Amino acid sequence: MYKINDNYLKLPGSYLFSAIGRKVNEYAAAHPDKKVIRLGIGDVTQPLAPAIIEALHGAVEEMGHAETFRGYAPDLGYEFLRTAIADNDYKARGCEISADEIFISDGAKCDSGNIQEIFSVDNRIAVCDPVYPVYVDTNVMAGRTGTYDPVKETWSDVIYMPCTAENGFSPEFPDKTPDLIYLCFPNNPTGATITRDRLQEWVDYANRIGAVIIYDAAYEAYISEEDVPHSIYECEGARTCAIELRSFSKNAGFTGVRLGFTVIPKDLKCGEVSLHALWARRHGTKYNGAPYIVQRAGEAVYSPAGREQVKKQVAYYMNNARYILTGLKEAGYTVSGGVNAPYIWLKAPAGMTSWEFFDYLLEKANVVGTPGSGFGPSGETYFRLTAFGSYENTVEAVDRIKAL
Ligand code: MLT
Repeated sequence: MYKINDNYLKLPGSYLFSAIGRKVNEYAAAHPDKKVIRLGIGDVTQPLAPAIIEALHGAVEEMGHAETFRGYAPDLGYEFLRTAIADNDYKARGCEISADEIFISDGAKCDSGNIQEIFSVDNRIAVCDPVYPVYVDTNVMAGRTGTYDPVKETWSDVIYMPCTAENGFSPEFPDKTPDLIYLCFPNNPTGATITRDRLQEWVDYANRIGAVIIYDAAYEAYISEEDVPHSIYECEGARTCAIELRSFSKNAGFTGVRLGFTVIPKDLKCGEVSLHALWARRHGTKYNGAPYIVQRAGEAVYSPAGREQVKKQVAYYMNNARYILTGLKEAGYTVSGGVNAPYIWLKAPAGMTSWEFFDYLLEKANVVGTPGSGFGPSGETYFRLTAFGSYENTVEAVDRIKAL
């Protein structure tokens, strides 16, 4: 008789955004007359930029001719895209990352879930609390997290680093020593950032204790302040302790197109073993690459026209963020984030849990957000709104909340 991977049975409930999606669909079905505005999951709403559409059309055309048709993509991704990334995202910022240290994928969600596979199940992970649930859930599936305490909503073998208003939503070094440290800045869900100096301290700490930082920089395009690092490789010594994850979803609207990448410097070694080589082995074995047409679309993001157009798109969403921040402050809410990130983190009204506030907003204002407790115990009594809606819907949602 076969056996299942019973680590899956340890997972409480369903994936956060699936649970919210179901709840909202049920509400919408029961109230067909209501216009529900979704500012929950961080999904973009603006169409792909013209330069990207043009690149997609061009690549589709190439696929229709024997001379230009492409089959399987190269293991690490096409050279043209990896070079564009290395030049624009790294060399232009003074980071020493070369094209052959970049692995193209179909998105940062998959990479952030899969990366743990190259590490021993004995490793102890440290995560921010609140945290993007994929980091923890995929470690649960791998059997790395111990037992779940349903009262505290924590795992016995996970080191939680609370990110609270008191510490500016920036984690302190944990009391226990971790092997793998997940950091995400600009942060999902709090929208908080980290300064370059503080990130340097994390890099020094990781090198000192022999840990790897898995640095999720999916929201770097939203950074507007000077001393906020766009990449962990802006820090000295990061090549020996950090893996960086990036996405095209939020900076260029690829949530439905799928494209991302992971950077593993060749200096990152466990003894004599190169993590780059391990990930290359995994990538080659389990993955056949993002489609050629999508990689060409990704290349277009770095063209002069593409850069201009996606910058405007990011500015559009950040204008929404400003509207939400200002509107909620006027309505008396305690709010943060939204300056270097497309997420606004607000405190639920006194006496309400995150889920109570979720239900309240859904029923009274027909606005969907994400309950903070879904991201971890320190998220309780908080709530996340995304700036990724259309401007009109964002204005309407905020005005409805203000009118409550
Ligand atoms: C979020 O809402 O946290 C993100 O959109 C989820 C994701 O990128 O997978």
